[in-house]
Amino acid sequence: MNQDFIKQDYAEAQDAKDKLKFFREEFYHPQSANGNRRKYFCGHSLGLQPKRVEKYVNEDLKKWQKLAVRGHFSGDFPWMPYHEFIAPLLMPLVGAQRNEVVCMNSLTANLHFMMVSFFNPNDKRYKILIEADAFPSDRYAVTSQLQFHNLDPKEALIEIKSRETETTFRLDDILSVIEENKDSLALILLPGVQYYTGQVLPIAEITKFAHRYNIKVGFDLAHAAGNLELDLHAWGVDFACWCHYKYLNSGPGAVGGCFVHEKHVTDKNLKKFLGWWGHNKQTRFTMPNAYESMQTAESWQLSNPPIISLCAIRASLEIFQEAGIKNLRIKSKKLTAYLENLIKHYCSDTIKIITPDERGCQLSLKIKTTNAQACADGLDKLDIDCDFRYPDVIRVAPVPLYNSFTDVWDFVNAIKKLV
Ligand SMILES: Cc1ncc(COP(=O)(O)O)c(C=O)c1O
Repeated sequence: MNQDFIKQDYAEAQDAKDKLKFFREEFYHPQSANGNRRKYFCGHSLGLQPKRVEKYVNEDLKKWQKLAVRGHFSGDFPWMPYHEFIAPLLMPLVGAQRNEVVCMNSLTANLHFMMVSFFNPNDKRYKILIEADAFPSDRYAVTSQLQFHNLDPKEALIEIKSRETETTFRLDDILSVIEENKDSLALILLPGVQYYTGQVLPIAEITKFAHRYNIKVGFDLAHAAGNLELDLHAWGVDFACWCHYKYLNSGPGAVGGCFVHEKHVTDKNLKKFLGWWGHNKQTRFTMPNAYESMQTAESWQLSNPPIISLCAIRASLEIFQEAGIKNLRIKSKKLTAYLENLIKHYCSDTIKIITPDERGCQLSLKIKTTNAQACADGLDKLDIDCDFRYPDVIRVAPVPLYNSFTDVWDFVNAIKKLV
């Protein structure tokens, strides 16, 4: 391999020709005590704040001051249909049709609401398949759903593990477990990107295979939305849920997102918990007792949404619209490959990259020589934000919207000394 990439001016040259570099200044970058801009690699946990969020939020705070209840129907973005302004921005990010996507609640709450509809166990089909290292909230959600249906998770929860000496999943292994349990599985809930290893799972293949046996398939896209190009409609996924506070940069605890495939949105036989925001919007305010469902994913909405949080989401998703997820993905692949190449060049004895080639922007670095927590603390002192995951992994996410090749260079320059 040409060794030019190990020179610092390589990073500068890549930044200079990067067409997306101006988006970096659309964000507030955290600062250290002495006012230096910190290098931020924690988009997998909490994305940076887009500068325009403040403007959008302030506009609606002002609107509330000046118009109060009339704000529901006034201005360019009235509150009554506010979530409808978000859906078109989300569609290209997750590959959804207009009627398949809605912004509501939070991720774990949405998983529960989806399971109300897509997990209806009977004597024959009653099991749920997850991964053994599922994010704890997903595990709690599926376990409590099983218990809610008087099922014992010890018997009804199937967990896919990676092989003994491996850290990531093989598609064949996943498909074999599905095949073995094809008659008893009711639901599969897997991540689009595994939060610890950064592995991308083949959503389309898993979904297609499971559907052969009439098993419902849902995905937790917390680490995939805004990170990968997704095509949920074409892939036929039954449902998917994600948050907006990681790669979608919409602020801590931002409202979540939910996809329900078109084939289900008008299905009257699906069980659902109801609220007035899922009722036909034409007659919602005549306050009828009889429920009449929206004919879209919006029918899963319960309440009128928190507008201030949606303001942040609208501001942030506009930036994605301007940059284009395709362009972002192209840059992301280069940026993460650059990180990988530098780590392999400088730290091959000290760091093992556990993230496979099927990945988004995150690399998970297993620190072999020293305590990973101490290493993360050392990076922190050098004004670098990334995160430590017990016992020995540091997760680093160069995010194409706001990270540069120079950031990556600086990161590797710092970590190579610490390990
Ligand atoms: C993969 C994954 N699933 C679920 C959650 C829980 O999200 P929430 O607190 O928004 O329900 C998180 C939070 O970080 C996550 O990373």
